[in-house]
Amino acid sequence: MNSTVEVCFVCLGNICRSPLAQGVFTALVRKEGLQDRIIISSAGVSHWHVGSPPDARMQQTARSHGIQLNSRGRQFQGSDFKRMDLVLAMDHSNLSALQQMRPMAELHDKLFLFRSFDPQHNNDLEVPDPYYGGGKGFEVVYQIVERTCPNVLKHLKTRLAKKHE
Ligand code: 4NP
Repeated sequence: MNSTVEVCFVCLGNICRSPLAQGVFTALVRKEGLQDRIIISSAGVSHWHVGSPPDARMQQTARSHGIQLNSRGRQFQGSDFKRMDLVLAMDHSNLSALQQMRPMAELHDKLFLFRSFDPQHNNDLEVPDPYYGGGKGFEVVYQIVERTCPNVLKHLKTRLAKKHE
């Protein structure tokens, strides 16, 4: 039986950063033919945009790189941790909101900052929130997400291999 792993990208509103990460990572996983092995979603720590499509500016930036964003806003629930193998927070504030949902002992091997996988993080582990800024912020987010996703995939491949042992 082929095992699966499940990853969720989490930001504040689930309409900018995490939907982009979901879209870019989904395209990468499909390219590698692993779509039946890796389950991908995104969520927000707030309920503010539940049911909403991604921000039009984020969709536009994604489209300019050939990525279509199809998610709808969802709020992350503490109970989601149970089935997740990996939960990636876009900034420290998202991380701390997630840490408050469950005892630390349950989260140490599944909850991380997204940019801890960024090969160029230079100790800056925030994916900057583009919502209140100008258009350039969305492209900055895209560049971070694009270069980070391959390392996330590498990590999940290791997890998949371990599940097979
Ligand atoms: P996201 O961006 O967390 O990357 O989806 C935001 C979206 C909405 C808001 C803040 C950040 N807001 O204040 O509504």
